[in-house]
Amino acid sequence: MYLKSFSKHLCCKNIQIKQCYIPAANNFDCMKIHTLTTCLIAVCFVLITAANVNIEKKPAGLRDYYQKHFPVGVAVRPGDLRKPEESALILREFNSITAENAMKMGPIHPQENRYFWRDADSIVNFALRNKIKVRGHTLCWHTQTPNWLFVDSAGNNVSKVILLQRLKSHIQTVVSRYKGKIYAWDVVNEAVADGPEFLRKSKWTEIIGEEFIEKAFEYAHEADPEAILFYNDYNTEIAAKRDKIYRLLKGLKDKGIPVHGVGLQAHWSVSSPTREELEKSIEMFSSLGLQIQFTELDVSVYAGRQGGQIIQGQQQQQSGVFTPEMEQQQLEKYKMVFEVFRKHSKNITGVTFWNLSDRYSWLDGRGRKNFPLLFDQAYKPKKAYWEVVKF
Ligand code: G3I
Repeated sequence: MYLKSFSKHLCCKNIQIKQCYIPAANNFDCMKIHTLTTCLIAVCFVLITAANVNIEKKPAGLRDYYQKHFPVGVAVRPGDLRKPEESALILREFNSITAENAMKMGPIHPQENRYFWRDADSIVNFALRNKIKVRGHTLCWHTQTPNWLFVDSAGNNVSKVILLQRLKSHIQTVVSRYKGKIYAWDVVNEAVADGPEFLRKSKWTEIIGEEFIEKAFEYAHEADPEAILFYNDYNTEIAAKRDKIYRLLKGLKDKGIPVHGVGLQAHWSVSSPTREELEKSIEMFSSLGLQIQFTELDVSVYAGRQGGQIIQGQQQQQSGVFTPEMEQQQLEKYKMVFEVFRKHSKNITGVTFWNLSDRYSWLDGRGRKNFPLLFDQAYKPKKAYWEVVKF
């Protein structure tokens, strides 16, 4: 309609022009002009629309490439959000954030009667302002706990009853504050042992016993029944540890404990895991009816298993140069793991990177510079990035 009347208008204008300056204009000429004009306008219209669609559809970041699969997240420090280059990169590439440290028991609850909310609040507010998701990390862990937590004023271990009360009060205060704002919580982190024992020896097991795990989930669920609750751990592709985590989670599910997902941390390296190990983990945990999130993804350029904690005082072992060989091995590992993620994306509800760019990674604390992420030290996408988005 619009095109037709527009071309008629032009045509009439032409006729007028012809009538003024070219007296021989007739109906046949007018029809030809009308048809030609309509065609021209239609072609322009199609071209402009196609160009616009192209511009709108072109993915700008990981979040767009993976829109149909799962949210893509990143662990952040409050300072990252205040740096324009970093916050712009976060918002271009990611649609979920996790606090790298700010919500852990020690940082957020330094004294029994004092919480420190500023850093955690700034992360949650950034996410709300920019309409991205927040994963909460973590409510109960053996590391980064505050000094007061396990002891009384004389420095002796508190009783099981007191520690459970403290755990409940901590979890319910933190979860309630962010109710409706944090959609998923890592409730218990790294409770399973790396060695032959079932659970890791910690103050939690020493004072409360195995029960601390189920209690933590119950307290979190009471505080926010809508939140998705995760058990989170590393080395989940090593058969012996995977089996123990499976046993723990099956036991919790069988007892009706509100655990909804398993966080597979994904602190990997150029040499592990294999495709088979990774698929096996996804299949095993999915079979429990749990959703899966890869919660702390990075691929160290040094071979070997990377899960676990920084060992303080490690010596400088490597020169800290990102060699072409490292680059190639790393891009192959990233390519493989994202192929697997896409293949199993019906069971995967999130993939989060642990830190933003190679400018800073927790792995640097292992006595050598590492380059484990998809963005280089100048925030530019690395070759591995282009493999991850090529599908
Ligand atoms: O905040 C203090 C600061 O006040 C002090 O001056 C400085 C001196 O070293 O230390 C600062 O604390 C450090 C903290 O990070 C914040 O930067 C701790 O020493 C350091 O140990 C801590 O490391 C964190 C580590 O967890 C603690 O175990 C890493 O940043 C963090 O990336 C890492 O994250 C864990 C996940 O939560 C769980 N899965 C494993 C992952 C890697 O270890």
